[in-house]
This record gives sequence, structure tokens and C-alpha cells, in this order.
Amino acid sequence: MMERGPTHGGGPFSCLWGMDCSMSELERVCLAVSPELLEKAGDIASIGTLDTLEQKRIELLGKKGYLTDLMKTLGSLSPDDRKVRGAAFNAARVTISELLDARKAMLEGAALDQRLARERIDVTLPSRPEATGRIHPISQTIEEITAIFAQMGFMVAEGPDIEDDFHNFTALNIPPEHPARQMHDTFYFGEKPEGGRHLLRTHTSPVQIRTMLRDKPPIRVLVPGRTYRCDSDMTHTPMFHQVEGLVIDETTHMGHLKGCLIEFVRAFFEVDDVPVRFRPSFFPFTEPSAEVDIGCSREGGELKVGPGAGWLEILGCGMVHPNVLRNCGIDPDRYQGFAFGMGVERVAMLKYGIPDLRTFFDSDLRWLKHYGFVPLDVPTLSGGLTR
Ligand code: PHE
Repeated sequence: MMERGPTHGGGPFSCLWGMDCSMSELERVCLAVSPELLEKAGDIASIGTLDTLEQKRIELLGKKGYLTDLMKTLGSLSPDDRKVRGAAFNAARVTISELLDARKAMLEGAALDQRLARERIDVTLPSRPEATGRIHPISQTIEEITAIFAQMGFMVAEGPDIEDDFHNFTALNIPPEHPARQMHDTFYFGEKPEGGRHLLRTHTSPVQIRTMLRDKPPIRVLVPGRTYRCDSDMTHTPMFHQVEGLVIDETTHMGHLKGCLIEFVRAFFEVDDVPVRFRPSFFPFTEPSAEVDIGCSREGGELKVGPGAGWLEILGCGMVHPNVLRNCGIDPDRYQGFAFGMGVERVAMLKYGIPDLRTFFDSDLRWLKHYGFVPLDVPTLSGGLTR
């Protein structure tokens, strides 16, 4: 709040009230007219409200006011008297009018001070427009996926983007020279002095290994993260995102894997009758392995998730291979479980109708404004994943 001194509206006439000199000035000009005028004007400096002040102004200076009436008598006076009386009337008029103005300014200032003190914060004011950013569809999609699996009891785990051969391949049952390595067009770093080279992880599966080496079963983790493959066209970018899931305990079987993923697909796409198909496949780190397709229809060039003639692949999964458990020091005769890996861009494109994968990473703000999400719209299962 603005600091204000006690002298508002004082101006050049502040000496007219509150101090002795003020009364003498007023006294002088009033008495030059009549003692009655002094009686009427004498209390201006102590008037307490704007209304009373206005009444006083009308009483003295208004069209039918005291001084105005006196002015009208000038015509009947001799020229000499008229000069003297006229000057006295005018002087009184000017002084009284200035005194009224000064008092008015002071009362207004005091009223404003009071209001400002009362209304320090006006919570009814509309907020000033702020330039708000948007949540990138990838971030939003990861949030949605995480919300669903969190509800099923999964914890989020993370691992490094720069991995070594052991975590990205070997421990996942992909030994050196295994043809499966060629499926991952890997970005390698230079050779380390002690042999071996670092690489950009080609999937989030190495975090399975890191988790199993660190934690004892039961394990239930969800791993969102960036992944890299030396690949670039309409449907591939060198950097993309995956969400990995891993469950290890003594009893989890393929039926749990299917139930869990079907439940996820329904919740994520917000379509209750979406067909889900488990197609036998191969991954070195799972046995049996499957790829999951969801049903879709293509009508008028529009791709829609739900019952229809088409199928779209969205993830790979399977029961964790005993060799992988063994590589992590977990007894495969006692423990078992499943894993899955899903492409985030892929499911985001399907859910939000984004046609070109490469636009995710063009950093075009107009694109983000169109496809992005309002920051406060945090996805929850109860409140609606997407609004
Ligand atoms: N890591 C596999 C891929 O990137 C996906 C996957 C994860 C498959 C876990 C099975 C189990 O293609």
C-alpha cells in the first residue's frame, strides 16, 4: 500500500486550517464582508464529511448562496461602494472556495487511506494473464501410464541413459554375437581403455537388471525413460521413449500378465470394449514372449482405437527368462514373473491422433499449443486421465 502523509490536499492552503494564521486570513476576508459570513464559514476546516462540506459550499457559494445573494446587491450601490464591496466579496469568495477545496481534498485523501487499509488484498480482482506453458504429450502420456500402473501397485524406477553392454544386452540373455543384437541399431561410444564400450540404451529393459540386482523379490516396478536407436524415418526417431514393467514374485504367471495389460489398455485408451490380442513372438529375455496388438478401425482415413478390422502393435512382453533371473542372482526355481516394454510415442499417437512421429521432437510451439496439455490437468484415474 502506498504510504501517505497526513497533509493531503494541503497544498498552498494548508496554512488555512489547523494553524492560527489560517483563522486570521479567513477572519480578515470574512469580516470585510460581514460578521455573519465569518460565523457561517468559520467551521469549514473542521467539517468531517464530504456531504456536509458540499452543503456548506451550496450555502455560501451556490446559486442561491449567501455570497451570491450579496453579489446581487452590488447593483444598488454607488460606484465607489460597489468597487470596495465587490473586491471584498470576491476576496471572500476566493478564500472560502480554496478553503472548501482544500478540506475536500483532505477528506477524500483520508477516505482513500481508509479504503486502502481495508482492502489491502482484493481477492476478487481477476488474475493478470500469464503466459502459461503446455505439457508435452510425451510427458502427459507417461503420467497417464504411470497413474494406471501405480493403481495396480507398481513403483516407478529409473536407470541411466548411458549403459554398458552387460546391462543392455548380456544380462538380458543377449550374448555377444547373438543375432538379436542386430535388431537394435545401437549408438556406441568409443572403446574404454579396459575394453568394452558404453552405449546409449536401446530399450528400458536394462533397468530390469538394475532393479533385480538391487532389490529382492517381490518386485513390481514401472520404468519410464528415453531410449535410442540409430534409425530415422517417418515412424522412427533416433531418440524415443519406452515404459518398462517388471513383476517378480513366487506366483505371478502369464494369466496375470494378460489381465494386467488388458486392464491397462482399457484404462489408457478409455475404450471399454477395445480388443486385445497376444501374438506369440520372440525376445531373448522372455519365454514365452508375445507382442500385444489392439483393435482399431479406419474409417474415412481416421484411425480409431476400438472394435474394427485392423490391429496395431503397441508393446512386447513375456515371462522373464530363467537365464535373466539367474544373471541377477535370483533363483528361477523359486521366483518367476513377467516383463513388458511399450513405446510411448506409439501409444500417444494412437490416443491423441498425432499422425507424424517426428513432430514430437520438432520443438514447434504451435504444435505444442495444439497437442499439449494444460499444466494443472494432472491425470488421475478418478478425475479422468485426459480432459
Ligand atoms: N525391450 C523390448 C523392446 O525394446 C520390449 C520388451 C520388454 C519385450 C520386456 C519383452 C519384455 O522391444
